[in-house]
Amino acid sequence: MNHDILIIGSGAAGLTAALALAERFKVLVLAKGAISGGSTAWAQGGIAAVLEPGDTFESHIEDTMIAGAGLNRRETVEFVVENAPRAIRRLIDLGANFTLADDGDLHLTREGGHSHRRIVHADDATGWAVQEALERAANDNPNITLMPDMVAIDLITDRHRADPSGDNHVWGAYAFNKASGHVETFAARATMLATGGAGRTYLFSTAPRGATGDGIAMAWRAGASVSNMEFMQFHPTCLYNLEVKNFLITEAVRGEGGQLRLPGDAPDPGYRFMPDFDERAELAPRDIVARAIDHEIKRLGLDYVHLDITHREAEFVKGHFPTIYERLLPLGIDMTKQPIPVVPAQHYTCGGVRIDLDGRTDLPGLYAAGEVSESGLHGANRLASNSLLECFVFGEAAANHILAHWDDLPEAPAINDWDESRVTDSDEEVVVQHNWREIRRFMWDYVGIVRTTKRLERAQHRVELLRSEVDDYYGNFRVTPDLIELRNLIEVAALIVRSALSRKESRGLHYTTDYPGLADEAVDTVLRP
Ligand code: FAD
Ligand code: SIN
Repeated sequence: MNHDILIIGSGAAGLTAALALAERFKVLVLAKGAISGGSTAWAQGGIAAVLEPGDTFESHIEDTMIAGAGLNRRETVEFVVENAPRAIRRLIDLGANFTLADDGDLHLTREGGHSHRRIVHADDATGWAVQEALERAANDNPNITLMPDMVAIDLITDRHRADPSGDNHVWGAYAFNKASGHVETFAARATMLATGGAGRTYLFSTAPRGATGDGIAMAWRAGASVSNMEFMQFHPTCLYNLEVKNFLITEAVRGEGGQLRLPGDAPDPGYRFMPDFDERAELAPRDIVARAIDHEIKRLGLDYVHLDITHREAEFVKGHFPTIYERLLPLGIDMTKQPIPVVPAQHYTCGGVRIDLDGRTDLPGLYAAGEVSESGLHGANRLASNSLLECFVFGEAAANHILAHWDDLPEAPAINDWDESRVTDSDEEVVVQHNWREIRRFMWDYVGIVRTTKRLERAQHRVELLRSEVDDYYGNFRVTPDLIELRNLIEVAALIVRSALSRKESRGLHYTTDYPGLADEAVDTVLRP
């Protein structure tokens, strides 16, 4: 099936790009599950933008660079921050129902690392408001086709041409159709990866199940550079509950006064510990808060710490955090009267497919935007609520580049179809499940918040063992969605471990007891296939 442009991913980045491109071209958007199944719909806190009187672009830029431990590319930070107010206005025009203050202006909340109130939000369900608005506009646009349940497997490159030749140009992707069980060929003149992050490489993550780093793995296999994969962000406050394992408690709870305290079984119950770690206390950047919680949990042998906002008026809490309040009540927690048990969990993938300011990867014909990419915005640690923003700004930037350079993009050549002639159905699906669990467990244990070279080497050894097992499996059996994801998880785990081993310092989210100091120079980890 040929389309002008193929976008893989239907979250904030993919749909923003699709809407801009659809002004002139036919756009096909693939999602591997439901169209609203990515992280975008789950975002709680909001979108950062300079809108408060007295706030400045310079201040947002500085806050972003401080959180990113100086590894950010300043021109990217400036580009994104300066485009933020416009991105918010565009979402309002599309009908996103952001929360308003009493005076009718946008209500701005606060999150860690921000020196001003600058978080635009829709109560505590901002992502859903954004996804709904973008999806409605995409559904209404006759130039956009949204195709759910299509799992992209690999990018099509010059080696898949009927007549192989060329310079590793990307021409679309092969995708597994969950309804038919067959692999389809989607050729296109330009291809964009908007596949989100790789959170599910870890045992505990706030991200949806589909966050398996497919785009990063596909781009890497096709020959694109990948950067800064060691910077996995752990959110400090994921709900601790034996049944509900990945529910986020937004940072805005701390922004509105929530305090971190030791729980009842600690020697000093109720003690507020964050001021001992950082003068910004609960509003220090995430890496610092997550490490402090991890430290207290390990030091005292706790299962969790408490997040307490009971000192605020009950009506204020219910009004600002209705989704969280309703989610916790059936679990026996009334957050207006009781503290919430929380633990850190993987939350965001700062590294990814390396792109320039136009969303271009280093492969001709291939663009990327959003969490799949490494644009230079986040550096060694993402500032809260900068990621949805990155999706809007880079989704549009990539679309603008395609629109401006359409005539330079060659027509897709004839492409070979997927070859299934030498594989059979697997009779050992259970192996896939076991391998999946094993990866996520050792990544959590050995490549988590605090690292050592020895643990990283142990993880590397296990990744290589699993890789050879899965390669063997992949070569002999018909693909399934689980096998596609497992193969990608292993690829991404290998990239994370390799990047972490090569960084001989502690910076931002990468903290290793073997190299606790900061190197003089901030240098990206760029891996090239
Ligand atoms: P996603 O929205 O994750 O979409 C990925 C898309 O790619 C999906 O459509 C998926 O189906 C598709 N896809 C993936 N693999 C394949 C494949 N192989 N084939 C076909 N399709 C594929 N950021 C903020 O700025 N503010 C917040 O308040 C905030 N809160 C968050 C709360 C939670 C719980 C989480 C998990 C994240 C939060 N983030 C927040 C981060 C932010 O939500 C994400 O970074 C952002 O939504 C990513 O958008 P995206 O468009 O890049 O990808
Ligand atoms: C949150 O609401 O705490 C998440 C915000 C973010 O990830 O930027």
